[in-house]
Amino acid sequence: PAFTDYQAEAATISQGLVESNHAGYTGTGFVNYDNVTGSYVQFTVSVPAAGNYQLALRYANGTTVDRPMDVTVNGTPAAPGLTFPGTGAWPTWAEKTVTASLAAGTNTVRATATTVNGGPNLDRLRV
Ligand code: GCU
Ligand code: CA
Ligand code: CA
Repeated sequence: PAFTDYQAEAATISQGLVESNHAGYTGTGFVNYDNVTGSYVQFTVSVPAAGNYQLALRYANGTTVDRPMDVTVNGTPAAPGLTFPGTGAWPTWAEKTVTASLAAGTNTVRATATTVNGGPNLDRLRV
């Protein structure tokens, strides 16, 4: 199926930095969430028709501790407490996919860290 990639490094970032020091990212880098509760990356996602879509977040977590995030769509919880477990190393990337209801046209998808460890490193959102 067709999909669209939204790079984290091009998204709206609150409490995070665009970096490229760990290999394997797509685009030009990834977002290193500040290791604080509430850091987030927010994407503007456009779809032609309302409906359920798969949202795939590509991430890395080089620790052994989960980095859960709340995923909201247009301010409504879509995947609260979504887990982002360790991937083994910072240059090792994985995808976490959830199904969410999107409106026709533009939507705001936000992934917010819910622990003091912040989020994982985030490469992109694929819809
Ligand atoms: C390391 C790593 C960062 C990561 C950070 C973290 O500093 O190089 O890319 O974001 O750990 O623990 O969040
Ligand atoms: Ca970090
Ligand atoms: Ca990227």
